[in-house]
Amino acid sequence: MTSKDNSKAALIDSLNGLLADSFALYLKTKNFHWHVRGPQFHDLHLLFDTHATEVFGLTDLIAERVRKLGGTTMTSIGSIAAKTTIRNEDDARLDAMAMVKQLFEDNTAFVATLKSVKELAGEAGDNATDGIIDDWTDQAEQRAWFLREIMA
Ligand SMILES: [Fe+2]
Repeated sequence: MTSKDNSKAALIDSLNGLLADSFALYLKTKNFHWHVRGPQFHDLHLLFDTHATEVFGLTDLIAERVRKLGGTTMTSIGSIAAKTTIRNEDDARLDAMAMVKQLFEDNTAFVATLKSVKELAGEAGDNATDGIIDDWTDQAEQRAWFLREIMA
């Protein structure tokens, strides 16, 4: 393999990680949309839905970047579970502020992942991925900002 092939393979792998994280973060955010309770129910129920929709919107774009690069991508819940770095949260009675804190941390980690994918896109000379990631990063930083301000 040439170094060009190596950097493309590394980019594909990082995009697949980002995709697995997007699916897992989508489901976790929906989980909190469904299970949140307490005085801030209305606001958080709506905010979590907005965030979940935004994250889900990334999935098709990421998967198709992988295909355009000639790679293969997620095929099943099992393949997502094997690849994601997002921690499961199966406590349906979790406190509302603990939900906000977890999503803040997950979205902050997601920003860091986006930055590392961008770096690999640069190394692989993939300017389409390099460019589109800036919007995804701004969206993730906005989610993190909203969640951070709720905890203030
Ligand atoms: Fe809903």
